[in-house]
Amino acid sequence: MTDVLPAGSLDGKVALVTGSSRGIGADTVRYLAEAGADVVINYRNKAPRAEKLATQLRELGRRVLTVGADLTDPTSVGEMFEAVEAEFGRLDVLVLNASGGMESGMAEDYALTLNRDAQLNVLDAATPLLDDGARVVFVTSHQAHFIRTTPTMPEYEPVALSKRAGEDALRERIPGLAEKGIGFTVVSGDMIEGTITATLLERANPGAIAERRESAGKLYNVSEFAAEVARAAVDPVPADNTRLVGDVSGFAAE
Ligand SMILES: NC(=O)c1ccc[n+]([C@@H]2O[C@H](COP(=O)([O-])OP(=O)(O)OC[C@H]3O[C@@H](n4cnc5c(N)ncnc54)[C@H](OP(=O)(O)O)[C@@H]3O)[C@@H](O)[C@H]2O)c1
Repeated sequence: MTDVLPAGSLDGKVALVTGSSRGIGADTVRYLAEAGADVVINYRNKAPRAEKLATQLRELGRRVLTVGADLTDPTSVGEMFEAVEAEFGRLDVLVLNASGGMESGMAEDYALTLNRDAQLNVLDAATPLLDDGARVVFVTSHQAHFIRTTPTMPEYEPVALSKRAGEDALRERIPGLAEKGIGFTVVSGDMIEGTITATLLERANPGAIAERRESAGKLYNVSEFAAEVARAAVDPVPADNTRLVGDVSGFAAE
């Protein structure tokens, strides 16, 4: 994984990616570190994975902080940003990647708690550390971004609605962030090959992935999508604050 971002383009910057011990978040934080950023790896459960990744990124010469925090717990979130402030004193890139809601045994409103309330709380807790030129990136799926116009699989619908509610709530912060010189970009992608979410949806709807792959022409894999997320942290903010990744045929614009 090289040259997703120009070498040195994030030298001296500090980036935090939520849910970055594995999957899309882990590849994103790696790309940011490869471009020169010191990074914060946030995880909920996977401390050994976070530490393993941290060791690899330190070998690139980066400073790396790993912080365990359940984002639905405001106290943990507060402590996470206290740790960031103590270690780095500021934040230049915040990637809101962590997501969920298809886990079994959670409260009925868990998806909304994590995908809306916790996202907003993380952004608000991070804002004092963000300054002129900083970037916030919110990661979502086409199935969620377009849920108001394009129905999705019933198993994913509560997650899609909660992620869209989170996106809408975060977008309300754009004017306040812009006043401080902070850019905000939503990155939306189709189903990603090889992820747990895609596997769960495929199990409930056999053939669903192949069908999406056929109508989209191609589905991104984890590292390809993570590269787009990392680029969104560096590229100019789109006029509509939205970076749509890959084909969007089959999704109706509002
Ligand atoms: N999968 C897809 O097909 C797809 C498609 C388009 C967009 N996306 C978006 O890409 C992002 C990442 O998706 P993914 O498939 O990589 O997700 P994932 O495999 O389910 O990973 C989610 C990450 O979020 C963390 N997380 C979950 N609940 C958390 C909580 N309460 N507090 C803190 N961290 C928590 C997990 O940490 P632990 O491992 O420590 O629990 C994990 O690192 C999401 O925003 C998703 O909507 C995914």
